[in-house]
Amino acid sequence: MSRPPITGATLVAGVAGAPVRHSLSPLIHNAWLEAGGIDGIYVPFGPPADAFDSFVMGLRGGAVRGINVTLPFKEQALACATSASARAQAAAAANLLIFEPDGSIVADNTDGLGLLGAFAAQAPDFDVAAGPIAILGAGGAARGAVAALLQAGCPEVRIVNRTLAKAEALAGALGGPVRACELAAAAEAFAGVSAVINATSVGLDGKGVLDAPLEATPDTAVIMDMIYKPLVTPFLHWAQSLGRRTVDGLAMLIGQAAPSFEAFYGQPPPPGAHVRALALKALEP
Ligand code: ATR
Repeated sequence: MSRPPITGATLVAGVAGAPVRHSLSPLIHNAWLEAGGIDGIYVPFGPPADAFDSFVMGLRGGAVRGINVTLPFKEQALACATSASARAQAAAAANLLIFEPDGSIVADNTDGLGLLGAFAAQAPDFDVAAGPIAILGAGGAARGAVAALLQAGCPEVRIVNRTLAKAEALAGALGGPVRACELAAAAEAFAGVSAVINATSVGLDGKGVLDAPLEATPDTAVIMDMIYKPLVTPFLHWAQSLGRRTVDGLAMLIGQAAPSFEAFYGQPPPPGAHVRALALKALEP
């Protein structure tokens, strides 16, 4: 199927980031639109890094249905909104803004759904409620992940961070069964976990190797990296060499895009678009 011609009725959505040039979201959403013959379009927006608020205010009123928001604007996106879902509030960040015709802006965060969707897609028998999960990092990405895991019934989350004070602050802010641990003592934090998730920026573009003792995880642990460029980060490569099952960041990216698509275009992504294969091709050097 192909997309109908663009008219005044075409639903417009997009993604805002700085930089936005390398975002895979336009590729994913437009492939779904085309596969479903849906009258919509999805475009990249690159507002100046210091002018996100005025960019968003200019979109109010519904001419643009909504936008995804990526780095470095996720916290500002939440602050701009008229109202926010519980999961956006828990994550203290929004990756999705919907512009209502009355001028209001509704914030949501589908990154947590993306994280859970990635496990469902690549480690189908993994049960988030089955045991403790360790998260590496204590920044914005880690916060969203911890909130989503607690919401999904994880019995204990261990935030493992280079700077212990930041892990403690995040654990305190989120409350619940969350422990803070120093990266230097990660072996202890990895004992008995069902999964380890890298939510740091280490390994992006193949730079750096996270000094985390994955050999201290049980053989059955699933190792996930939120980074998708490269698809197999040094962290995942190491996990695979230890024989651990792995989940990649591209599955999370596609997992967060699906509920965003439904919010923009009023229907779930159609089957048959092969967006993972398209994204993998786009990631090739
Ligand atoms: P984001 O909001 O995208 O999550 P961030 O707030 O900059 O990004 O957080 C980056 C995370 O990566 C932090 O947890 C950081 O650890 P510190 O709190 O100690 O700074 C972690 N990080 C970055 N470089 C690291 C490295 N070389 N080794 C270990 N952790 C690192």
